[in-house]
Amino acid sequence: MLDIRIERTTTPKELPKADNPLKFGTIFTDHMFLMNYETGKGWHDARIVPYQSLCLDPSAMVFHYGQEMFEGLKAYKTEEGRTLLFRPNKNIERANQSNRRLCIPEIPEEDFLDALKAIVKTDEAWIPTKPGTSLYIRPFVIATDPYLGVRPSDTYLFIIILSPVGAYYPEGLDPVKIWIEDEYVRAVRGGIGEAKTGGNYVASLKSQVKAHQEGYSQVLWLDGVERKYIEEVGAMNIFFKIDGTVITPQLNGSILPGVTRDSVINLCKAWGLPVEERKISIDEIYEAYKNGKLEEIFGTGTAAVISPVKELRWENHIMQVGDGQIGEYSQKFYDTITGLQLGKIQDTFNWTVEV
Ligand code: COI
Repeated sequence: MLDIRIERTTTPKELPKADNPLKFGTIFTDHMFLMNYETGKGWHDARIVPYQSLCLDPSAMVFHYGQEMFEGLKAYKTEEGRTLLFRPNKNIERANQSNRRLCIPEIPEEDFLDALKAIVKTDEAWIPTKPGTSLYIRPFVIATDPYLGVRPSDTYLFIIILSPVGAYYPEGLDPVKIWIEDEYVRAVRGGIGEAKTGGNYVASLKSQVKAHQEGYSQVLWLDGVERKYIEEVGAMNIFFKIDGTVITPQLNGSILPGVTRDSVINLCKAWGLPVEERKISIDEIYEAYKNGKLEEIFGTGTAAVISPVKELRWENHIMQVGDGQIGEYSQKFYDTITGLQLGKIQDTFNWTVEV
């Protein structure tokens, strides 16, 4: 059991009012978790303290070379008042995969889980209960050596902050329009595309701005080499339902291994719905569209859960998906995943972990 020192705030903030829409990532709870790392000493000094600014040296390596890893997961309150985390072990596993790729020391899995449970327990009162809301958990590690040379840092800070949230996209569950990027790429195989790190997201900003200017809310990325195969979309993985089969790009080193992605694949298998993880070219999607076989498209992610897509623009082609409403399976995946997260559906997968 991780030994965590707890210093409670003496000036608790007011909890958000029931009618607060909880705009994603704008409200933070009363406390945060911190733990330091130093070469030779390992991870140490686990503590929960009042939420506050950090004091870092301006030369801290994270500011210059972006050595950082982040994660995202959610906590929910069930109708009976239990607090559940959704598949935290998958996030912990992925965090350490990212850490290995980014030369950040791994965090022992049990300590990571103890830290998640302890900070969520401390600020449990902040878990919102209105439909479509949850407590978003953002664990991250930053390199803190005060040094301007390029090498892995010797010191790190592991932080967990919490934010009560509503829908990630302003559209909520309403279908969105997606624009396929053909100028820039997000990641290349052998790069850091499969790690959850800020660099992948800053690489996406230019295209996101372009897409917004064109009236599209998100960007779909093609592979960085042939500019032909579908990778992922915005802050999510992507799925297509074509002629009765659910298809998603196979993990190839440049795609983020999403936890919701994995949950959807497992649900398909449990429901006997054909599912394929494989290379998908944009031409194949366009052909399926022309032949009337493109039934549904949806994105998956922790923040967004399921985000149905009503339109895809690729060069001069505009593909309208279904009747512009949320597809049958997009709705079914959303209802099942949120039902499991909220403890409303019996968790035969053992995905939820009680705090
Ligand atoms: C998540 O879905 O949790 C993410 O980390 C995406 C993020 C960029 C909002």
